Amino acid sequence: MAPAPSRLGASLPLPPDLAMCRRVAARAEELGYESLWVADTGAGPDAFVVAAAAGLATRRVRVGTAVVPIYTRALPVLAAGAGSCAQLMAGRSFVLGLGVSSETIVEAWGGVPYRRPLTRMRETVGAVRRMLAGERVAFEGKTVRTRGFRLVSPPPAPVPIYVGALMPPMLELAGEVADGVVLNFMPVDAVPRMLAHVRAGAERAGRDPATLEVVARFQTVVTDDVPAARDAIRQMMGPYFATSAYNRFVAWCGFADEARAVDAAWRAKDRTANVAAVTDELIDRLAIIGSAEHCRARLAECLQAAMTTLPAGPASSPVVQLLYWVYRPIPFMEDCARRFGDVFTVRFPANPPFVFFSHPDAIREIFTADPDRLRAGEANRPLLRLLGDHSLLVLDGARHLAERRLLMPPFHGERMQAYGAIMRDVADRTIDAWPLGEPFPIHPRMQALTLDVIMRTVFGVAEGSTFTRLRERLTRLLAMTGSRFAPLVLLPFLQVDLGLFSPWGWLVRIARDVDEILFAEIRRRRAEGGAGRDDVLSMLVEARYDDGTAMTDQELRDEMLTLLLAGHETTATSLAWVFHRVLERPDVLEKLRTEVRDAAGDGPLELRHVAELEYLDATIKETARLTPILPIVARRLEEPTSIGGHELPAGAVAVPCIYL
Ligand code: HEM
Repeated sequence: MAPAPSRLGASLPLPPDLAMCRRVAARAEELGYESLWVADTGAGPDAFVVAAAAGLATRRVRVGTAVVPIYTRALPVLAAGAGSCAQLMAGRSFVLGLGVSSETIVEAWGGVPYRRPLTRMRETVGAVRRMLAGERVAFEGKTVRTRGFRLVSPPPAPVPIYVGALMPPMLELAGEVADGVVLNFMPVDAVPRMLAHVRAGAERAGRDPATLEVVARFQTVVTDDVPAARDAIRQMMGPYFATSAYNRFVAWCGFADEARAVDAAWRAKDRTANVAAVTDELIDRLAIIGSAEHCRARLAECLQAAMTTLPAGPASSPVVQLLYWVYRPIPFMEDCARRFGDVFTVRFPANPPFVFFSHPDAIREIFTADPDRLRAGEANRPLLRLLGDHSLLVLDGARHLAERRLLMPPFHGERMQAYGAIMRDVADRTIDAWPLGEPFPIHPRMQALTLDVIMRTVFGVAEGSTFTRLRERLTRLLAMTGSRFAPLVLLPFLQVDLGLFSPWGWLVRIARDVDEILFAEIRRRRAEGGAGRDDVLSMLVEARYDDGTAMTDQELRDEMLTLLLAGHETTATSLAWVFHRVLERPDVLEKLRTEVRDAAGDGPLELRHVAELEYLDATIKETARLTPILPIVARRLEEPTSIGGHELPAGAVAVPCIYL
């Protein structure tokens, strides 16, 4: 949580065998681990004895309990155990980690009622802290009490007290009263969420959250035999996750079904089903299993998650993440989703963090949020500089609204009738030119068709030398924006004009050639007036903002390019996918043919028929769902915002992802 230096600690084996613990402790110190952590099985060997043994086997490393139960030792016993360990390790730090443990250890084995865990923890931390400070303590709490107790030999230095916590109330209590928090058995993507609660607790108590240490325990198995390691972890997790605190926690982490199954099997005393309910997916999210390289990379991710308020994500360098995003976007997204769940953070050089969301609820939150706080234009602007400052895609707030008011009318009513007829005629002509009886790639044909439609309906240029020249230049521009260099050109720091041999320099020159024709065309339209013309450019030349002013040449140019870039490749690729999907399914093709025939008979298809083509509409929508053309959109956060339960800082970019 705190942007403090990270340190690698190790946990001693569980259940501990004293001789083995000594060996592991000595070896861990040799290997450079900074701290050693001792858990308490509740059934021995005693955690303080193990800690002492580890302390004696080492010279420098920090030792701590992570954690010992607060219920099974009376306050003086806790203080004496911790105080003795601290004395034994004078000159280095000993940490007392406390936890509430489970009903089995506390009630069944210890015979102590497992009640009011939060109050008990708060009171225990307060009383034990005073005891360890050497004070004479009298305390009358709701869950613990002591009178006239003083440690005979208080520790030479203060003993920090950490709290083991899983769910929000205990995490917040840790933030309020403890010197550190111990997290255990959690998926990496839950860490920022957990730490947000610790921070909230600390802030509520007027403490600086950065002063708290986070001990995050990740079960790690370096192995070639992943299935065998999974099975070993599964054996351990089954009973663990049947305890009430862990069961609720696993559900909180998004594994509600697994939590229910683990619990039901445990209650039915069906140990096999209890263990089997721990799915591979759950294990892979909660434990780190694989080659040394894999484990190292995953641990780096865990570290990053503990040091930021952002959801977890790949820890590889931003340049590597960018290359994946540019050249292998789909496997990259899928891999992230598999490892981090439905929220993850991706980092690119010189960019704010991008937080991907794929849960429908989170996506709804983003789309229904106040557009002044989640800003689409600001998120797009660095990527879409080519479109100019007036493009609808890079504007927010009042300017976006004003521009949209002007741009919407051409896309309604009668205008669409006219465009429909143009689209049909262009499609007819294009299809007539297709070769018969031989295969051909559909995507370039759809690109050509879409460009023709946009030239006619949006630019209002249908023939002659302007048509030929504009078509040729737009084709070059679109080829460049669709090339494999394109994603690089979207990066602000690569948007440098180094002449024709730099991708940006090249793009800028092609755009300039397009601009030359466009500005001439705009001048001509202004001179001739838009009467009798249906195209979008003519309408926009005539349009007026609320204050009565017309669009400037630059505004018109920016919107024309926007409509071209937003409308061309999206439509062409969508159409190509529809062909692909429909040709795979002769039954669907047949149904579509029948529907069109029933609607239009032998006559040409008119716009009025379109409303009747329900199956066609469904086919297109299903294709868009299966193969979304734009897998993501982006919103830059104007202020800190909670999305899907994640507190995101201002400046981060929220990315709803329809693909995942
Ligand atoms: C199947 C084809 C298309 C797809 C999949 C598609 C998809 C999208 C998406 C995902 C957005 C961003 C929405 C957001 O950030 O919330 C968008 C915005 C936009 N699209 Fe399309 N689009 C398509 C066709 C077109 C066409 C044909 C045009 C115009 C000729 C167009 C013009 C625009 C414009 C101007 C915006 C910005 C709207 C605004 O900021 O108010 N799109 N489109």
